[in-house]
Amino acid sequence: MRRKRALLTTGILAGALAAGMAVALAPAASAGTTLRAAAAEKGRYFGAAVATNKLSDNTYATVLNREFNSVVAENEMKWDATEPQQGRFNYSGGDRLVSHARANGMSVRGHALLWHQQQPSWAQGLSGSSLRNAAINHVTQVATHFRGQIYAWDVVNEAFADGGSGGRRDSNLQRTGNDWIEAAFRAARAADPGAKLCYNDYNTDGINAKSTGIYNMVRDFKSRGVPIDCVGFQSHLGTTIPGDYQANLQRFADLGVEVQITELDVMTGGNQANIYAAVTRACLAVSRCTGITVWGVRDCDSWRGSDNALLFDCSGNKKAAYNAVLDALNAGGNNPPPTTTPPPNNPTTPPPGQGGCTASVTLNSWTGGFVANVKVTAGSSGTRGWTVTMTLPGGASVTNTWSATASGNSGTVRFTNVDYNGQLGAGQSAEFGFQGNGSGSGMTPTCSAS
Ligand code: G3I
Repeated sequence: MRRKRALLTTGILAGALAAGMAVALAPAASAGTTLRAAAAEKGRYFGAAVATNKLSDNTYATVLNREFNSVVAENEMKWDATEPQQGRFNYSGGDRLVSHARANGMSVRGHALLWHQQQPSWAQGLSGSSLRNAAINHVTQVATHFRGQIYAWDVVNEAFADGGSGGRRDSNLQRTGNDWIEAAFRAARAADPGAKLCYNDYNTDGINAKSTGIYNMVRDFKSRGVPIDCVGFQSHLGTTIPGDYQANLQRFADLGVEVQITELDVMTGGNQANIYAAVTRACLAVSRCTGITVWGVRDCDSWRGSDNALLFDCSGNKKAAYNAVLDALNAGGNNPPPTTTPPPNNPTTPPPGQGGCTASVTLNSWTGGFVANVKVTAGSSGTRGWTVTMTLPGGASVTNTWSATASGNSGTVRFTNVDYNGQLGAGQSAEFGFQGNGSGSGMTPTCSAS
């Protein structure tokens, strides 16, 4: 890997010299001093599951805001929380988390639209087509409410059985028909076309019967055009990690889906730090592994109680496991996430050139509104900061922005990097987004680097 990188650098330098160009060396990747900064330098996010009632705890919020750039609701977006009575929706906890994320430059994972656990009692009492209709309506309503705010949804959680069958788990949802999972994914795509749609499960940490059953489902979905974008590996780990952990991630990635570590926690003990580091290295080694989420902030916040399974102790101090993760993020090994094809609505975006930066925009529109996701890619000199300028069509206005700071909200708007995503190595990318009222069509971003 190191040799490959050296050869690549030599090739770039030789090419630049041959073309008679001034050679500006890419800024040396600085060691990130927080999980979010170190992960961002590797093109990944680092997230935590959040219980929103703890956001008012100063120690909790300080650690969360300093270290993480992605959040997921530990319970607040689940079915029992969001639809406690049939057709009556309560988004207060989820909305609170989304606004906290927006204020702190964090993306949001949505968890979970359908699951056999934490169903409201009214749903537990349904079956057959009444349950199927209620479930699909739930997916549609919740994904529509959060449209444009969610990076990736766990559309279906834990639908496969443990043990050696490799088949589905029995549940009230499964009894509505084997196609309930794909029906949920199709409904989620229709409701929020901008969110990545994930299947999420546990005990899938190596190549085993359960993970192979899921693998076969994903392969089938991809072959039939069922909309699935990602697979979540919860990674609730004990004192060992399967030797084929990375190989398992890779085989899913090779199906063309993103993989994410979604609920990482590791039993305390001599191996805790090593296992955390091994998971981190595995994600960095798989280019389609886009991020890691730990299932809580401090040991005392964890559902695993005395396992002391997280990265911070109960006082918010960093544990050895924290340092192991940070070191692994800052170490050399990295297989950067693939760059996405420039979207069709912005065909004129040039490829990254020498110096500077380029930007491309992907738009998800609906009547009266849109979400724009903007990708900034550094040219060959890297960036220390960047600004993207976009002119909105008449009548359109920006209502909120994430992972960038906007100046102005209509007409020509300038979006400048936030602290953790301004510094990009040559060819590296950062993403930010904004939501707007009106139509966002025809916007052409221009990027300037400092
Ligand atoms: O909020 C009520 C409270 O009002 C009540 O007094 C109390 C009494 O039991 O319960 C409280 O709700 C609890 C809730 O956590 C919030 O603390 C539920 O009982 C409890 O069951 C629930 O546990 C959650 C669990 O999912 C439910 O299965 C955990 O917090 C949450 O960490 C856990 O997360 C799951 C993921 O969603 C899926 N993967 C596994 C992971 C760990 O189990």
